[in-house]
Amino acid sequence: MIKIEEKSLSFDSAVVHAGFKKKDQFGSHVAPIYQTSTFVFEDVDEGAKAFAGEGSVHIYSRLGNPTVEQLEHAICELETFGMPDANEFEGVVFGSGMGAISTSLISFGGQGHIIAQDALYGCTSQFLFEQAPAMGITTSFIDMCDLFMLEMELKKNPTTKLVYLESIANPTMSVCDIEAISELAHEHGALVMVDNTFATPYHFQPLVLGADIIAHSTTKYLGGHGMVIGGALVLKKELSETAHLHTFRKNLGGVAGPMDAWLLIQGIKTLSIRMEKHAENGMKVARYLESHPKVKQVWYPGLESHPQHHLAESIMRNGYGGVITFDLSGGFEAGKKLMNGVKLCTLAVSLGNVDTLIQHPASMTHSVMDPELRLKSGITDGLVRLAVGIEDAQDIIADLEQALQF
Ligand SMILES: Cc1ncc(COP(=O)(O)O)c(C=O)c1O
Repeated sequence: MIKIEEKSLSFDSAVVHAGFKKKDQFGSHVAPIYQTSTFVFEDVDEGAKAFAGEGSVHIYSRLGNPTVEQLEHAICELETFGMPDANEFEGVVFGSGMGAISTSLISFGGQGHIIAQDALYGCTSQFLFEQAPAMGITTSFIDMCDLFMLEMELKKNPTTKLVYLESIANPTMSVCDIEAISELAHEHGALVMVDNTFATPYHFQPLVLGADIIAHSTTKYLGGHGMVIGGALVLKKELSETAHLHTFRKNLGGVAGPMDAWLLIQGIKTLSIRMEKHAENGMKVARYLESHPKVKQVWYPGLESHPQHHLAESIMRNGYGGVITFDLSGGFEAGKKLMNGVKLCTLAVSLGNVDTLIQHPASMTHSVMDPELRLKSGITDGLVRLAVGIEDAQDIIADLEQALQF
């Protein structure tokens, strides 16, 4: 616990100290875990007051838990780092990234229209396609980098409540102009929600460019070690109150457990040094893949060949994360040989772990998407996704090199 004014710290220092502020009764140096489902009331009056929203005592861990709140403060501090109105925001943590995303889509999109990016994480896309219509939510899917198309959709759908995109899209890696998108959406009375899982606040803070709601699968880079499934939102307190977000979370029930929250708090402390290495390795591995004769195309925002490289360069700092997608000349059959041949990289979905993971979006993470939309949005059957870890880049490259000998 530090005694210095946090506003004077750099992002890398803020990451180490995010969240844990108040000394507990025993002076624990590390945030304690409140591994409890319920909390004791002093007397009936205190219990009644707590239920009436008065006083500061906790009631029941689905409604709020001190360890989970530490994590909420930490994530909020990082996504709002350096913003003059940072104290107007809050973090809201969930038991998974999909818990955070679906709860906010229901809270903010209900009985209205959503304009979503065509390529999105498979379950987000499936939720909008299959479950959201039953909740009175209609969605149009567009290429979010096409601002003209966005404007047309906003004009065509005056009930648009939300524009939804990913800061680096999973798995096409497209990077759209969030500042311009936010201006357009706001002109038409819509909010902008950005899934910042791939970039993390280390590389990019969409709130600074005008986005309204940030979503995270904390399962990924924030946790960093592949031990926890979790999710989070960061938004203005005023917005979450208007949309009754906390009531939706309470009654839909997708809350995080204290142990998972505690593990995420520990993971966040090393976010900066992990991301630095992920980004360094990402660049080296992307360049290696781009120069390999068996590789047809590579998508990584740091490469000059990436369609939005200049935009990414102007809005992201310290690199571009660790996820790379690529197409092999031999299509899916060649990709299969590569994925079956790796020895250091692990064939598994997810990303943001300290170790390198490789997977096939069309048959795995994005298999639940509408097949037509999947192809249209650029998720071809040959696409391979590599989530580069923090091993030595030369070892990752050597593994890919031996697996590409077919
Ligand atoms: C960009 C993105 N958003 C959201 C999710 C969903 O997160 P979770 O698996 O924690 O529910 C994922 C999962 O892979 C993802 O990649």
